Formats: sequence, structure tokens, C-alpha cells
Amino acid sequence: MEKLKIGVIGMGRVGLVTATAFASLGFEVWGSDKDKNRIEKLKRGKTPFFEPGLQELLNKGIEKNALHFCANNKELIAEADVLFLCVGTPSREDGSADLSQVEEVAREIALQAKGKKLIVEKSTVPVKTAQWIMRTINLYSRGKADIEVASNPEFLREGKAIEDFLKPDRIVIGAENETAKEKLLQLYEKFNCPKIVTDIKTAEIIKHASNAFLATKISFINLVADLCEATGADVNIVSDAMGLDRRIGRAFLDAGLGYGGSCLPKDVKAFTLIGENFGINFNLLKEVDRINDSRIDRFLEHIHQALWTAKSKVLGILGLSFKPETDDIRETAALRIIPKLLEEGAYLKLYDPVASKAFMEQFPEDPSSFTYVKSPYESARDAHALLILTDWKDFRELDFKKIKKLMITPIIIDGRNIVDPEEVISVGFEYYPMGRRPWHPGRF
Ligand code: UGA
Repeated sequence: MEKLKIGVIGMGRVGLVTATAFASLGFEVWGSDKDKNRIEKLKRGKTPFFEPGLQELLNKGIEKNALHFCANNKELIAEADVLFLCVGTPSREDGSADLSQVEEVAREIALQAKGKKLIVEKSTVPVKTAQWIMRTINLYSRGKADIEVASNPEFLREGKAIEDFLKPDRIVIGAENETAKEKLLQLYEKFNCPKIVTDIKTAEIIKHASNAFLATKISFINLVADLCEATGADVNIVSDAMGLDRRIGRAFLDAGLGYGGSCLPKDVKAFTLIGENFGINFNLLKEVDRINDSRIDRFLEHIHQALWTAKSKVLGILGLSFKPETDDIRETAALRIIPKLLEEGAYLKLYDPVASKAFMEQFPEDPSSFTYVKSPYESARDAHALLILTDWKDFRELDFKKIKKLMITPIIIDGRNIVDPEEVISVGFEYYPMGRRPWHPGRF
């Protein structure tokens, strides 16, 4: 059987990982994006964003001549047998997914394709999107090509995307005829994990339901965190004990500032609307979203509890990305907390191991009210408090003795519960976590 050639349309975080990972598995891959600068950069072997392991895969793919990048889809549509759609599906104002990029690409494929092609939805899309793609194909291709549509949702976490691609928990294939099914199984034949082969609508729902469930777990534990705070209990111990029940599991039970990023917030809103469009009450997910929103105010309460007022205080901010191991700042807690602190008149010293550059593009430095610094220690220097917004591992391993000496008042307000309270208290810090009792002199 001849080896299938792969096209990946959209060189974002999902598309580029998909393209480079398939190339590493021995496939010939074409990757396209309408952003010409991004394509030029990729041709020169430069990744446009930070993702552990991606640079190495890109180098190898280019070296082996297994990866080809193009700024339009013409060559890709002509060369590839299987076309993965990895274009953006951003939120519209009402929370529903904007599928105009998917429609545009479907139309382009319909107009240009010749011979047999399999279009595969990889981006997260609402149930029944494949039907719309098929309708578009039928409208525009007028029988020129033999085009099929399938779904193969991704479950890639940023920061662990390569590992998730190459060692997945499961592979979901939504296909409605044997050839589409066989082609996708052929692409994943080296993978030794459960493969769920089902109809397309079920595959589409699996993706949205998975992300909505992860978000529900996080909001659930944050709700419990509020109760722990109100009663003096400890949410970390609640999570650990709940997590030992194999039916529950410990993952995604970390309380704190809640979920951000380009996926969970968007998918919860989109899935809620899909449910409602089909007449189903999805209020459960509305609550998940509301609880997540409320984390910011809860954190600000902690700041006020510790500092009385943030006005004229110097605050060290540790962590700008929405989670560790990424420079992605979409829907990050920092984007909501920082403007509020600036409004209150605080002076901020911002630090992140990799996301400062991305943050600076949205928040250019203003030395009169905030500055970017190059180390957590610089962030602590002359500060009245250190605020932890992202759970980067490095923040857990700081030299807190040194930090205390640098600060004006030794206060840590931890939005991610990553610091060991015993350690910082023994050094002389006041410590304010989420969903756990604060450690400060007034308590004793
Ligand atoms: C998420 C899913 O985990 C992936 O499976 C999915 O493929 C991806 O969305 C997508 O749809 O493309 P990602 O957005 O990279 O991946 O991030 P997560 O690891 O899910 O974390 C999301 C947010 O939840 C982060 O802000 C994180 O800090 C927060 N979180 C996570 C918590 O607040 N508590 C937890 O216990 C876990």
C-alpha cells in the first residue's frame, strides 16, 4: 500500500505539532498557513511559539526533507491525500464558535481538489460541522473530485503537546465509510493505544465533552475551595483524598485561579450554546464558567486581606502565561488581574520564564506603573508582596531566604497553591493560598 501523504492546514499550536509529529513518524507532510511571516519563519526552521520538543522535531523534519511549508493551500491540496483542518475556530461575541475559516478552507478544497481526498477535522468544532463541510464540498466541487470527510479530534495539552501526540491516551476516529476509516487507521497504525472508531457526530461531541468535563472538575474543586476557606479546611488535602478514589482521579483537582488558555474557556461556552441550540438545559456548564470567572475576585480579596490596599504598593508578579511550559497568554489570569491592580494604583514588577515577550506585546512596558524583570528575585526586590499567578515549577524551587531579604514586607499570595507553606512560614513569610487557611501572625 502506498504511503499516504499528509497536508495540515493551519500552522498554529495544533497544526504545527500535528505536522512535525507525523513527519517524525516517517510521513511526507505539507503544512500551510495564510500568515506568510509564519511560513517564512518555519522554512528557516524557526518555531513561531514555545512548545517543549517542537524545535527538535521541526529541525529533524526539515533535515529529512519530510516537511514542506507553503503560504497557500494550492500545492498542499494537490500533493496530499489526507488534509487535516487545523485552522482557528475562535469564539464569537455570544460564545459560539466562528467557523468561517473552516468554511473558507472547505470551499477552497472543493474548488481545487482533483482525485481522492480525505478532509479531517482536527480543530475543535461543534457537532454537525462535518455535515456543513460535506454540504460545502458538494456545492462547490460539482463532482470533480472524490472527497470524504472525517473527524479526528486532538487532545493535546500545551506544554505537553508532542508527548500527547506521540503517546496519546486514546485516538478518536469519526468516519462514515470504510475507506476514510482505513486511511486514518493507517496513519495511526504505529500507535499502541485504544482507538475509538465511531460516527462523525459522536467524535465531534467526544472532544467538546472532554474539555467541558475537565473544566467542570476544575470549577468543582474551586467551589469546594471556597467552602474550605470559609470553614478553615484545606482544599489540597480534600483533592488528594478525593483523587485516591480511582473513579475520581487526582488530575485537574488543583484549586486556584481556575482555567485559562485558548481551549477550555472557549469550549465550555461553545458547548453550552450547542446544547441550548438543541433545546437541552446546559446550565451546569454556565455555572462552571461563572465559578471560573469568580476566581479573579477571590484572589483580589486575598490581596486586600494581606495588604489592606494595593495603592502605592510594589507587587512582584510571578507568572504571566495561562499555565506552565507555554508562552501562551490567551485567557490568562494575569490579563485580568494586572489591570485591576494598576487601576488601584499598585506598582508591578512582572516576571515569567518565557511569556514576558508575548505579554509585552499586549502590555507595553510603562515604567511609571509597571516593568518587566528578568528574574523572580528582581520581581521580589523592594516589593510589599509576591503574587504567584502561574504554577511554573521554578517558583516552587526559589530561594525564599534570599527573597525575604529582598522584600520590604515578606508576603506571598499564591494563586496556584504551589509553594510549600511550611518552608515559607519557617523563613518568616506571611502566606495566603487559595482554599487553605492563610498563615499570618493575626491567626496565631
Ligand atoms: C486543554 C485540554 O487539556 C487538552 O486535552 C485539549 O486538547 C486542549 O485543551 C485543546 O482543546 O486543544 P490546554 O488548554 O493546553 O489543554 O490546558 P490544560 O492543561 O487543560 O489546562 C487548562 C487550564 O486549567 C490552565 O489554565 C490550568 O492552569 C488550569 N488547571 C488545570 C487548573 O486550574 N487546575 C487543574 O487541576 C488543572
